[in-house]
Amino acid sequence: MSSSPYLIHFKSIGKSDIGYISIAEKETLPFVPQRIYWTYYTPEDVKRGFHSHHQLEQVLVAVAGKIIVTTEMKNGDKQEFILDSPKTGLFIPKNCWRMMQYSHNAVQMCIASQTYDEADYIRDYQEFLK
Ligand code: TYD
Repeated sequence: MSSSPYLIHFKSIGKSDIGYISIAEKETLPFVPQRIYWTYYTPEDVKRGFHSHHQLEQVLVAVAGKIIVTTEMKNGDKQEFILDSPKTGLFIPKNCWRMMQYSHNAVQMCIASQTYDEADYIRDYQEFLK
């Protein structure tokens, strides 16, 4: 049984006249990160994702711009999240089908629980539903 996606509110220090810093402390994250990557310059008419993972868990952050994330669990639970703040992360559990759409200026940071393994991906929607 997988947990559901949920938003994480990161600590934010600063103020408008000097700028801000946000911090993902280990107490705030649901796993110990093994990898961080980021995606950017995704055209607005391109949707990414369309897969789930057997084991990998992730936290997505729109460090710039706006990302619309649609998630679906095997039990049919669908949710839409709008990430438009560098203070907010979205936890994506294992066995969660996701689709992401980006504003032209979006930079998506992904904090990942595991190293890259193509064998961990489920890229076929029918296989995901099984
Ligand atoms: P993918 O995870 O499918 O991206 P998205 O969900 O954003 O559409 O990865 C896109 C491609 O990049 C895919 O061919 C696998 C490759 N890739 C790596 O080689 N290493 C990595 O750490 C990641 C995340 C992707």
